Amino acid sequence: MNDKQLAARQAASLVEDDMLVGLGTGSTANCFIEELARRSSEEGLRVAVVASSMVSAIKAQQLGLPLQAIEHVQHLDLYVDGADEVTPDLTLLKGRGYDLVREKLLARGCDRFLVLLDRSKLVERIGERYPIPVEVPPFAWPLVKKSLEAVDGHGALRQTANKDGLVVTSHGSLVLNMVFPPALDSNTLDGLLNAKRVATS
Ligand code: A5P
Repeated sequence: MNDKQLAARQAASLVEDDMLVGLGTGSTANCFIEELARRSSEEGLRVAVVASSMVSAIKAQQLGLPLQAIEHVQHLDLYVDGADEVTPDLTLLKGRGYDLVREKLLARGCDRFLVLLDRSKLVERIGERYPIPVEVPPFAWPLVKKSLEAVDGHGALRQTANKDGLVVTSHGSLVLNMVFPPALDSNTLDGLLNAKRVATS
């Protein structure tokens, strides 16, 4: 069993009967989904799940986990996911997958958020290895991009692996992959990204 599987097994051991559990996205989350399905079939664990992405929803369904639609969910007991980067003060970068808004909704709506990480995810500052993803409705991306350029961000819409199309999230949004100056600390950046209005020049 590798480290991801071990972490996933540990996380799945915390799930109790009748919990509603949020499923993250990525290879670590996949290990957790598999472990939850194993406990469900081998131990009779009664659990319902809600997925952070179509990919995880399909995997959960294929493994026989009872899936709830996110629009019917008001509260989760537990949400388990991986992350792309983590700083020493436990700030996370997520969203190398597509569905960042769903991930944030599940993280916000749960009693307990477990993030499964290994040392390869440790960074000194957020954005060190990956661009910072910003999910935007298709009609809004030029305005959002312009407002992020006002705080010295630069970037472009995320393309598919073959660069022959744009990435589209489960809800039809686009993703701006943005890079910001290293001097911009993650708290300031978080404030800017979440502000109702970013000052433009
Ligand atoms: C999904 O959008 C991301 O936030 C994932 O949680 C992240 O990419 C982790 O993936 P791995 O577990 O494959 O590293």
